[in-house]
Amino acid sequence: MQLAVIIASTRPGRQGPAVGKWAFEAAKKHAGFEVELVDLVEVGLPIFDEPHHPRMRQYQHEHTKKWSAIVERADAFVLVTPEYNFGPPPSLLNALDFLYVEWNYKPVAFVSYGGMSGGMRSVQIIKNTVTTLKMAPIYEAVNIPFFNQQIENGQFKPKPEQEKAATAMLDELVKWATAMKGMRGK
Ligand SMILES: Cc1cc2nc3c(=O)[nH]c(=O)nc-3n(C[C@H](O)[C@H](O)[C@H](O)COP(=O)(O)O)c2cc1C
Repeated sequence: MQLAVIIASTRPGRQGPAVGKWAFEAAKKHAGFEVELVDLVEVGLPIFDEPHHPRMRQYQHEHTKKWSAIVERADAFVLVTPEYNFGPPPSLLNALDFLYVEWNYKPVAFVSYGGMSGGMRSVQIIKNTVTTLKMAPIYEAVNIPFFNQQIENGQFKPKPEQEKAATAMLDELVKWATAMKGMRGK
């Protein structure tokens, strides 16, 4: 099974890749999935610019077709997200809105980071969107408060409890991904 670990933040000077690379390495070590690291900066989506509802899959733009292929081949997702103004970054909502069928009946887990909240408010808000896309957000998560205290030379240094939380999250994600595979048509 394929897992896409998606780095959601796209701003210049972002810290997301440090946390994202750690989540990617943790998922590879876990070995429940084939893992792909997806960086929304590299995907390069503009603000949503498709004329038709994504349900139709009548994509007009190459960037959408490329994004569609990335999401289509995944059986599960880990969204690595910051919190902006108590909510998700616009880059994440935008990337979700671009597609529909490609997200359907797939589980999603969250690695969030921020100040005191560890990005939890961002996760709670984006859950409303992912369930509308017929995704299953799973309970197990990694929330990282004051994450910047754990970044050294651009590398995220996890605490033991965060590594444990990542393992629990990935164990659960495997279960949901296995069960949900049967829900998807050809
Ligand atoms: C526009 C903006 C809004 C922010 N709002 C919050 C917030 O509501 N809660 C929080 O914990 N941190 C907030 N922060 C601080 C972020 O946690 C911190 O900048 C973090 O590095 C953002 O992730 P990124 O570097 O991957 O973009 C905000 C940062 C920005 C740029």
